[in-house]
Amino acid sequence: MKLDPYRPNYHFTPPQNWMNDPNGMVYYKGEYHLFYQHHPNGMTWGPMHWGHAISTDMVHWKHLPIALAPDEHGTIFSGSAVVDWNDTTGFFGGKSGLVAIFTHHDEDPITGVQRQRQSLAYSDDSGRTWTKYAGNPVLEDPRYLDYRDPKVFWHERTSQWIMILATGQTVTLYHSPNLIHWTFASEFGQGEGFHEGVWECPDLFELPVDGEAGKTKWVMFVSSGGLEFGARTQYFIGDFDGTTFTNERPSEAVRWLDHGWDNYAGVSWSDVPAEDGRRIYIGWMSNFKYAHATPSDGWRSAMTIPRVLQLSHIDGELALIQQPVKELASLRTRTWTQNHGTIEDGSHRLPDLALDSYEIIAEFAPGTAEEFGLKVRTSENHGTIVGYRRQDQELFVDRSHSGDTAFHEEFARKHTVKLKQTNDRLRLHIWVDKSSIEVFAADGEAVMTDLIFPGESDTGLDIYSRGGTTELLSLEIYDLKAI
Ligand code: FRU
Repeated sequence: MKLDPYRPNYHFTPPQNWMNDPNGMVYYKGEYHLFYQHHPNGMTWGPMHWGHAISTDMVHWKHLPIALAPDEHGTIFSGSAVVDWNDTTGFFGGKSGLVAIFTHHDEDPITGVQRQRQSLAYSDDSGRTWTKYAGNPVLEDPRYLDYRDPKVFWHERTSQWIMILATGQTVTLYHSPNLIHWTFASEFGQGEGFHEGVWECPDLFELPVDGEAGKTKWVMFVSSGGLEFGARTQYFIGDFDGTTFTNERPSEAVRWLDHGWDNYAGVSWSDVPAEDGRRIYIGWMSNFKYAHATPSDGWRSAMTIPRVLQLSHIDGELALIQQPVKELASLRTRTWTQNHGTIEDGSHRLPDLALDSYEIIAEFAPGTAEEFGLKVRTSENHGTIVGYRRQDQELFVDRSHSGDTAFHEEFARKHTVKLKQTNDRLRLHIWVDKSSIEVFAADGEAVMTDLIFPGESDTGLDIYSRGGTTELLSLEIYDLKAI
C-alpha cells in the first residue's frame, strides 16, 4: 500500500472524507472534546454532521462515532458546547452534563429559502451519546438569511448564559438563564471591521492583560470571506458588560488573527479549568478558495495545532499573541542544535537531515544581509521559504515552489506581514508537517499558517542569507513523531 504523502503526522484530521470548521470544543472530566463539520460520505462539503474526537492533551486524539447527524430540522452547522454545571437546563436531574448549541440548516418548506435556526443537544455520558432537545429549534429570526454558528459561554458577573451569533455582516448577542429561552442583548459590527463577506463563527472571551495585575479585556473573533484571500479571521479587543461589546479602537485597521491563508473558523475551548487558566483555540487549516481541490487521499482537511491566546503590549498597543500549546513538546524525538554562527551569503543545506515533520526554533540577528531565513521541505526544485526582509520589515512565507501547487491557480503565492524586529533580533518558531507550515514569529506576535504539498523526497532544510551575512544566534530542530 502506498502511504498518503500528505496525511499529517501530528495535526488532527478526520478518519475519512471531508472536514471543515472545528465545533463544540469543551473540556469536561479530564477530556478535551473536538467536534467538527463533517461530510462522512464525501470528499467535498455536503450534508453536515458533527464528527467527534477526544483527547487528554489536545495532541493525541481518539475518534468517536459521529455525535450529531441531520434530522427533521435539517443538517448540523457549526456551534459550540458548554458544561451545564448547575443543570440550568434541567436536562441532567440536578447533576452536570454537556450541552451542544448548534445551527440547524434547511429550506423553508413554503418559500424554499435557506433557513438557519439554533438548536440544542445534550449528553449525560461525557459526550458518548447525544439527545436532541425535543423543543428544537430554540432560537430563530426569519429576518436573517445568515443566522448561525452560536458560541455560548457563562457570564459570571451577571450570572447568565451569553450567545454570540453570526447574523449576516454583524454579530448579535443574546442572553439566557437556561440555554433554552434566549432574548436579544445587543448587536455589534455595523461599520466595524472587515465586511467583504458574511460574518461566521464568532467567539467572545475575556483575557488578562499581561503585566497589569487584575486587568482584563474582551476579545471577539469573527471569521469571514474576502475576495483576495478567500477566508480569514479578524479580531477585536474591547470591553463587555454582560450586554454590549464595545470595541476599544473602532476606526483602526482590521486586525487579522493569522497572515497565512489557511486558518479559518477558529474558536476557543470552553470550560478549561480555572487552575489551568489558558484560552486555547484551534482553526480549520484550509481555505474555501481551494478546499475542495487540495490533493489528498480519502480524507480532506486538517486542523491547526492548538494555540494559547494572550494579550500583550507591543509598541505600546494591546495585541493578541498566540503560542503553540506546551503539550506538543511530547512529540519531540531527535534533536539537533547549532550554536552561534555566521550565515554567509547564499543558501546552505543542513547536512544529514531528511525530515518531513518537525519543529524549528531559530533566532537571528541581522548582519549585512537584506534578507534571511529558512527553506523547508526542500529538494532540487522545491522548497517553502520563511524569510524576513529587513528594509521592508516584513516576514513572509513563499509557497510558490512548495510542491504541488497546480490544483488551484491562486495557490502558488507569497504571503507577507509587517513585523518589527525587537532589539535587532528575530525569533522564528516553525511547525512543519506533511502538508502544512505554521510560523510563530517574535514569540507569537505574527503568525502565518499555510498549506503546502511537497513531494515525499522534499526533505531538505536550508538556511539562507541574501545580499550579505546574517548572524544565527541559535538553532534547534526537533523531529516530531506521528500521533
Ligand atoms: C464556516 C461555515 C459556517 C457554517 C459551516 C457550514 O466555514 O460556513 O458559517 O456553520 O461552515 O459547514
